[in-house]
Amino acid sequence: DDPATSPFEFAQAAAAVIAEKTGVERHDIALTLGSGWGQTADLLGETIATIPADEVPGFAKSDIPGHSGTLRSIRLANGKHALVIAARTHYYEGKGVRRVVHSVRTAAAAGASVMILTNGAGGVRPEWGPGTPVLISDHINLTADSPLEGATFIDLTDLYSARLRELALTVRELDEGVYVQFRGPHYETPAEVKMARTIGGDIVGMSTALEAIAAREAGMEVLGMSLITNPAAGVSPNPLSHTEVLEAGKAAEADLAELLSQIVVKL
Ligand code: 6GU
Repeated sequence: DDPATSPFEFAQAAAAVIAEKTGVERHDIALTLGSGWGQTADLLGETIATIPADEVPGFAKSDIPGHSGTLRSIRLANGKHALVIAARTHYYEGKGVRRVVHSVRTAAAAGASVMILTNGAGGVRPEWGPGTPVLISDHINLTADSPLEGATFIDLTDLYSARLRELALTVRELDEGVYVQFRGPHYETPAEVKMARTIGGDIVGMSTALEAIAAREAGMEVLGMSLITNPAAGVSPNPLSHTEVLEAGKAAEADLAELLSQIVVKL
């Protein structure tokens, strides 16, 4: 994380370790599995190798309940290779934005041209009950940070690929929404959720937007999906708890795995 070292060279080093440990030279697509999406890895295809996150430079085992801490290489039925990242670094961990997007840059360095970003998040729309998967159509980044350094004025129009969203919709009818990334780790106040709704947000969470920006910078196509684990604060009268968020994730896991696997084979 020395400012003098290139984050792209660091990602190259991580990708080299992945290639060495998996024997897979090139991964075609990458998936980051957030809360509720973990079972997808088992359905996708044949696992070639599972690597503990702490064996890859820049990755760490998570101490957050519900986040497993592995990288997995999977051969899909169509012969393509998927890199499944169940080792996310969250912005709220305070390790800096470079660490947050290192997994995305590593996926790009490993050869991936498609980046699928998933998360568990709060719903701003009252009609979305716990367990609802939602396609991310756009985002609002409220972290006041960016993974880009220097004069990198990249365009973020169609950041969440219209092509990939259309493809996902051929698998299942899904609602779409604008994802709002807050810093966390606390959940929002009802006033902040109201603000999110007012400025055009539908989903509130603590990941994904910064990663999507880094994926675009790396030239990848991005597909973003949220599992609504709970209504956001003030949307329902109930208080939020991380345990309930995890339980909603668990209950939805098989369905999400099925959905995402069906999307991935169509890529
Ligand atoms: Cl309500 N907010 C945020 N920021 N993240 C969440 C959530 C809410 N529910 C699950 N994850």
